[in-house]
Amino acid sequence: MKLLVKGGRVVDPAGGVDDVRNVVIDRGRVEAVESGEVPETAFDRVIDASGLVVFPGLIDMHVHLREPGFEDKETIETGTRSAAAGGFTTVAAMPNTDPAIDNRAHVEFVRSKAERFGYCNVVVVGAITKGRQGAELAEIGDLVDAGAVAISDDGNTVMNSEIMRRAMEYLRMYDIPMIVHCEDETLAADGVMNEGYNSTRLGLKGISRLAEEIIVARDVMMAEKLGARIHVAHISTRDAVDMVRRAKARGVRVTCEVTPHHFSLTDDEMEKYDANYKMRPPLRTPDDIQALIEGLQDGTIDAIASDHAPHTEEEKDVELDYAPDGVIGLETTLTVSLTNLVCSGALSLSQLAQKLSANPARILGLSGRGSLSRGSVADLTLVDVDAERVIESRLFESKARNTPFEGSRGRGKVISVIASGRVVYDGGAIVDRTQREQYAC
Ligand code: DOR
Repeated sequence: MKLLVKGGRVVDPAGGVDDVRNVVIDRGRVEAVESGEVPETAFDRVIDASGLVVFPGLIDMHVHLREPGFEDKETIETGTRSAAAGGFTTVAAMPNTDPAIDNRAHVEFVRSKAERFGYCNVVVVGAITKGRQGAELAEIGDLVDAGAVAISDDGNTVMNSEIMRRAMEYLRMYDIPMIVHCEDETLAADGVMNEGYNSTRLGLKGISRLAEEIIVARDVMMAEKLGARIHVAHISTRDAVDMVRRAKARGVRVTCEVTPHHFSLTDDEMEKYDANYKMRPPLRTPDDIQALIEGLQDGTIDAIASDHAPHTEEEKDVELDYAPDGVIGLETTLTVSLTNLVCSGALSLSQLAQKLSANPARILGLSGRGSLSRGSVADLTLVDVDAERVIESRLFESKARNTPFEGSRGRGKVISVIASGRVVYDGGAIVDRTQREQYAC
């Protein structure tokens, strides 16, 4: 099967392209990215991309697929449908499942389920500690051997610094990063929002920014002294960004990511007392948003990740104290990023492609992905970047509806998605697994 994606504006920073081009795909690989006329008769299928932007397939390096154990919230099938609908061709599945993904068999389970039921490529993040309990190291070598691309106890911090030190020392043997969830659990305790003027005004228990910063400081310091590689998940405060900036300048092996909700929304939202704004770390202040955008601009923040955290409506529709933390994001990340970063003039389309594709591929070591250069895996996301969109969760492919962006207006609609040479999303709709083999190439 040969596929031609014709006449789109190819924005591929890793390949150094931002121009109208034809992308030739053959047997799941990019064969050529070229300008000029291409004879259409040589192809089994031609997708007209004129007027669209063609990105290298988007990569979300922080997703909770919830399987095994929490299939009422999401499954590998629904989560990857949601990913495809949001423009993602690869997602990294976090290990806070039940059981936690802390050994070879669990990594293999997720990979084989994704192979059979997935709508995009799934890579697996293994746990740092057994059961994510923070007490005993997981079988890290086995996790890597089974294909884990990173390790993380995300959702929790490894509070025991001796365990963390041993994990970092061990990890030096492998070229994968440790994704660190930075939140001192004794400081954050049972807070439900950012600590500050708004938490006092609303009478809600706050989470101090110090809870995040103290662990970023510890983990950066350890990575520096031990030579380990860390990636700071969902960074949210000005001083945390500053610490990463200074660490990078010293040559520490540290990268970091930000979520669309953290660079778009502030803790003013909490006056709605709505648990769809409750997550960890919490929404911060306009000054933090400014710092996050500066961090994206100067390269301190390498990636944008959704931290897609599905929960059921029953779980979220309760008092803030009882609601679980987290919001979904696979089907809103691209629109929110285009609207709040590109339309606002903060980032170029090429910089956005870096944060949503090239850099996550580099950080996770996904060879052949994150670029459209010749020979790379045929992962493409076709987007109408000017289309207006109102975010409506009832249209989501995800099982969950817990978005903080319900009803928001923005720019950017995903039109088609090709993952590993397969058309998984076509003209604004999912291509069911049962039908899609006919489009495989
Ligand atoms: O709000 C959050 N929810 N933050 C996390 O780090 C974990 C996530 C979840 O798994 O629900």
